[in-house]
Amino acid sequence: MSSSTTFKVLSLMIYAFAIVETTMAGDPDILTDFIAPEGSSINGSFFTFTGMRVLITEQPPPTFHVLKATRKEFPALDGQSVSYAVLEFPTGSVNPPHVHPRSAELLFVVQGSLQVGFVDTNNKLFTQDLQTGDLFIFPKGLVHFQFNSDAKNYAFAISAFGSASPGLVSVPSTLFNTSIDDNLLALSFKTDVATIQSLKKGFSP
Ligand SMILES: *[C@@H]1O[C@H](CO)[C@@H](O)[C@H](O)[C@H]1NC(C)=O
Ligand SMILES: *[C@@H]1O[C@H](CO)[C@@H](O)[C@H](O)[C@H]1NC(C)=O
Repeated sequence: MSSSTTFKVLSLMIYAFAIVETTMAGDPDILTDFIAPEGSSINGSFFTFTGMRVLITEQPPPTFHVLKATRKEFPALDGQSVSYAVLEFPTGSVNPPHVHPRSAELLFVVQGSLQVGFVDTNNKLFTQDLQTGDLFIFPKGLVHFQFNSDAKNYAFAISAFGSASPGLVSVPSTLFNTSIDDNLLALSFKTDVATIQSLKKGFSP
C-alpha cells in the first residue's frame, strides 16, 4: 500500500468512526442493561408492547390518527434511545406542521402515498411525494408535516425515532390553543386581534 493510499484508508476509517459516533448520539447512556420498575420481578412481557395489535382488527380511523410506542406507552424503552409511531391517514387528511425536539424521524410509507416536507433553519422548504415503500428522514428539531392528498386511497406509515421520548410540539396548537396574548399574536402574524381570535376558536371544544 502506498503511503497516500494508507492515508486515504485512515481518513476513511476516521470519517466512518465519526459517522458511527454521530449515529449513536441519542438519549443519555444508562449504566444498566435496561431500566425496570423498582423492586419488581420482570420477564419477557416487560419488553413486549401489544398496543399495536388493534391495527390488525380495527377499521381504519375516520380522521388522521397516531399510535405511539414511546417510553410513556412502553416503559421498557426508557434509556434505549428508540421508539415508534404508526400514522394512519384517511384520504385528504393531514398531520399538521410539528416538531420533535429530541429526535429525527425516519418515516416508512407502508401503504398509499404521502406528500411530506420540512423547513430548515434557513426557512428553506424541502418537499417530496412519497410512494408506498419509500422512506423519508425528517431531521431533528425541524418543522415538518405529512399529507395524504390522494382522493381515493388511505395511507399508512411507520416512523422510527432515535429517542425513547421524541416529544411533540404542534405548531397550530402551540400558537392558537394556549393562552399566548391575542395582541402579541396579532403583531407577530401582522394581522388583527379578530383574526387571531377566529383562529383560536377552531381549537375550542
Ligand atoms: C410475567 O410478568 C407478568 C407481569 O408482571 C405476569 O402477569 C406474567 O404472569 C409473568 N409471566 C410468567 C411466565 O411468569
Ligand atoms: C386544545 O387544548 C385543550 C387543553 O389542553 C385540549 O383538551 C384540546 O384537545 C385542544 N384542542 C385541539 C383541537 O387540539
